[in-house]
Amino acid sequence: MAAKDCVKVAVRVRPFNKREKDAGSRCIVSINSNNLTIQDPRNQQNRRVFTFDFAYWSHSGFVRNKEGLFVPEEAGGRYADQASVFQGLGHGILENALQGYNATLLAYGQTGSGKSYSMVGSGPNKGLVPTLCHGLFQFIRTHHDSRQCQVFFSMLEIYNEQVIDLLSKTSRSPGGLRVREEQQRGFYVEGLRKVACESAEQVERLMEQGTRTRTTAATHMNANSSRSHMLVALQLKQIFCKECITKQSNVNLVDLAGSERQRCSGSEVDRLKEGTAINLSLTTLGNVISALAEVALGRKVVHIPYRDSILTKLLQSALGGNSRTVMIATVSPADICYEESISTLRYAERAKRIQNKAVVNEGPTERLVNELKTENAKLLLRLSRLDQEGRRGDQETKELRRLLTHNELQIRAIQTLWEQHLQEALKDWETQYTNITQERRMMQTFPYMLNVNEDVQLSGVIKLFIQEGDWDVGLEDSSPKSISIRGLGIQKRHAIFSNQKHRVTVTPVSGSKVTVNGIPITEKTELQHLDRLILGSNSTYLFIGFPADRAADDWSRFDYHYFHSELAAAEGIRLDSLHDERDQRSVRSKPSLLAVFYDYIRLMPMVAEANQMSEELNKGVEFKLEIKNLAMSDSKGHDLEKEIAVRVTCVERKQVWVWSKAKFINRKFLMEELYQQQAVGGAGADTPPLPREKDPFWDPLEPLHLGSAHLWLQSLPYRIPVEEQVEVVGSEGTEEAILQTQLVPCHPTGLPLGEDDILIDPTELLGKRLDFVLVLDRCCGLRWLREARNRGVQIGFQMFDCLQPLYTPAVWHDANPLLQHRVQFTALNTSPELLNYLQSSALVLQLWGLQEGCSDLVSCLDGMVVTPGDSIVIDTAAVSENMAVDSAGSELSSSVLHEDLEQLKSSNDALRKENRDLREQLGASAHAGGRGLLSAPCVDSGHQERRGGQRTSCDAELARALKVFYHSMTSVRGQLQRLRRHRPSEDADLPALRLFVDEHAHLLKTFAEQLEECVCALKQDVAAVVRRKREKCAGWS
Ligand SMILES: Nc1ncnc2c1ncn2[C@@H]1O[C@H](COP(=O)(O)OP(=O)(O)O)[C@@H](O)[C@H]1O
Ligand SMILES: [Mg+2]
Repeated sequence: MAAKDCVKVAVRVRPFNKREKDAGSRCIVSINSNNLTIQDPRNQQNRRVFTFDFAYWSHSGFVRNKEGLFVPEEAGGRYADQASVFQGLGHGILENALQGYNATLLAYGQTGSGKSYSMVGSGPNKGLVPTLCHGLFQFIRTHHDSRQCQVFFSMLEIYNEQVIDLLSKTSRSPGGLRVREEQQRGFYVEGLRKVACESAEQVERLMEQGTRTRTTAATHMNANSSRSHMLVALQLKQIFCKECITKQSNVNLVDLAGSERQRCSGSEVDRLKEGTAINLSLTTLGNVISALAEVALGRKVVHIPYRDSILTKLLQSALGGNSRTVMIATVSPADICYEESISTLRYAERAKRIQNKAVVNEGPTERLVNELKTENAKLLLRLSRLDQEGRRGDQETKELRRLLTHNELQIRAIQTLWEQHLQEALKDWETQYTNITQERRMMQTFPYMLNVNEDVQLSGVIKLFIQEGDWDVGLEDSSPKSISIRGLGIQKRHAIFSNQKHRVTVTPVSGSKVTVNGIPITEKTELQHLDRLILGSNSTYLFIGFPADRAADDWSRFDYHYFHSELAAAEGIRLDSLHDERDQRSVRSKPSLLAVFYDYIRLMPMVAEANQMSEELNKGVEFKLEIKNLAMSDSKGHDLEKEIAVRVTCVERKQVWVWSKAKFINRKFLMEELYQQQAVGGAGADTPPLPREKDPFWDPLEPLHLGSAHLWLQSLPYRIPVEEQVEVVGSEGTEEAILQTQLVPCHPTGLPLGEDDILIDPTELLGKRLDFVLVLDRCCGLRWLREARNRGVQIGFQMFDCLQPLYTPAVWHDANPLLQHRVQFTALNTSPELLNYLQSSALVLQLWGLQEGCSDLVSCLDGMVVTPGDSIVIDTAAVSENMAVDSAGSELSSSVLHEDLEQLKSSNDALRKENRDLREQLGASAHAGGRGLLSAPCVDSGHQERRGGQRTSCDAELARALKVFYHSMTSVRGQLQRLRRHRPSEDADLPALRLFVDEHAHLLKTFAEQLEECVCALKQDVAAVVRRKREKCAGWS
């Protein structure tokens, strides 16, 4: 009897975590009955409401009670605790299982959103899996007279499309377990250990064991648990003796991998495909859900891609098949997680539509026994007939008896299997119990190191006891006085831990990395209770001192994040150090800055691991975290958005790449895959070397952005030429080079304008033609070249509305190369936009570093208009508007020609007219022969001429004053930049800080003086011009 039912979907909102609290995060989610509303933090109007079968508010309104349980503040409060989530979701699953249905519970959400908390729980706040088991065994106990129940427990992990048995007693097989398919059973994991269980405590113990395996595997293999799926399977068989029926159900409880995706920024795509299996299973799950949702809407779907991944193979019956399925989608309430949360909610929305057809399962074992019994009955009947016929010793009778015994043995075997399994499990249980008691005793006697993992679920699982004496800690465990640990960058003998006279010390073996509380150590160091240790590149441990030293302190604050914040702080990266002093707003109001900081902390251990893998695999590249745009600004001088990048250097060949965060994370995953194959997998010399195109450590060389300089354009609208030396500043504020530049207003022919062409009022330019030349003369003191000679540079720039950047030709092997690059720009009808641009913006000159083997950057003039005189036309929107033609090439070129012609014509006309006038005057004077006639007009025109001349000279003086002013402003601006970048060094002590403050004060003083001087000079010059003008006017009147 197939019942059609939809996948039930629940959503749960967790409390803020520490990081979100620190960031002063805003809660953007609210819940009302079964509706969840989420608000876009950037747009108050943008709200979306999602309706689910259940919506749990676990964000606020709770207290921690005496037993450590999180419960509602007041009875009947809206806070949903673990018990109420179980009541809503777990209970139904248990009921279904007991009725003989298959049931599945999936937890979906971004890493850290609370999947494991809901599924497994934390401390006394037990999650769905243990509570469900508790309920199950309680039910079994109370109903044992009506039915016999058998429960098998298994636990597996899918990582990188490999199945790992978390309960296996033997070491894991390379490549993981195989997933097979059988007609009756569907997909199943071959050789997966299934443990018979009789109590909830036993299940909890098994889960602990599984978590321990997961933790060890994660550290050994350098794997990240947020990328793995954990699947707990319970097989429940109920034999109803009276009714002679058997019901069997499979319950799958799945804690899925983190749903977050690494989005590549902008148009950047990695050369290497995204880590192929980075989350093939999760992506396929999404595809399966989408396809099934389409089916539910009545659309025709040809293919449901169950077979595309391990996870979907194993969950086939849970999705659109024979199972009652529940999904819990967990979300963070914080504004900074909006994108991820909304994507989780959309996913859950789709899952709601899936329809399953669940049936009660009749157990195959029981059927087999029944069949055997029926066959036996038939055999017995035939035997008794043969007996009656007196054929007792007959061949046929012998054969029948053999069959009968065989069948009976088989029946007995099937029935005793369960007992045997139970016995085995019991033995296991006893050894484990002894181990646990022993561990407890040791915890109360000795100091130890407690593992700390990025995933809280895997933290505090491994304990390394430091008993009295000296202990070698490292890969080797050959001597009885050694503690074996594995992990990236761990040496055979890594460090010596010594426990003597109630003191514990650590001494790194030379060449191995040991960090205590964020500081690398090389000598014997005494450890204090709760010291943080990092061994190798990223094996993190919290030191737990002698029992007497332990107070009732809370160790949970020393989480993975704490370890790495401490490391970052030691490197000088603190939240306030990213914060620009000019920006008085609090960091809290800048989520983007905070995101950069957290990215840095998150990527730090990954970079350390990448470096270690590079070293072990002899890749010869080094990785270093960088904060991009730390000192960069746009054409208006506003700070550019900061982001994390990774600088990759090939030390030997002095080659450099810069990878985006997304690219690095993708590559890191591919590196792990390679590392696991080559280093951990023990692939010997017989594995062929990886072709370069497939090597995640390698990339083709590309021009590298080294820094930028700002060339302010404000002198151009006055038609004042400037000559400037601008400083090219690197991303982190370093001086990369000095560029000698010129901006020269010119005639259409390219000849420079004279001083008489200087404008006082730039609006006079509007609607007129403007020509100017940009000259890049020389580049001096190139740091890029000082580091290595086999390099080159190019400068790129994009003027106003040019579609593409233009580049200077490449210059190689010279730290002070001559560029002598000259480009003319023309605006045919200067628009207000162009004028505004010139008055308020800078041309950003980008310095690009070239390396041997990389191709030059080339200017692409597609879509740009060039005059016959090779001048590049800018401000084209205005031209096309005015001329009502498309700004496409030829038409515009001809318009430019036309314009040039018109200009020539008009100046020709003017010259002709002047010539004619002169002639007439000459003729007139010859006729008149005297001055009288000429005097009046002559005086008049002379007056005008003089006034005009006066005007030009006064304006020219004013313009000259402005020119001087702009020049001096350039150096003031440089001074300001220097001031902004001037920071004390991170390791500065008090005297050094004093010195810094003095220097700073001096710089400030110089800056103020220069500014004062400039303004004073301008005032004086203007005053002088005004005075002169007044005198002249007074003279005329
Ligand atoms: N509902 C909740 N109430 C209290 N703490 C929670 C809740 N959900 C998650 N947490 C805490 O948030 C952190 C991350 O949760 P976790 O379940 O490990 O996330 P995930 O498994 O999704 O990566 C853990 O410290 C966990 O204890
Ligand atoms: Mg988890």
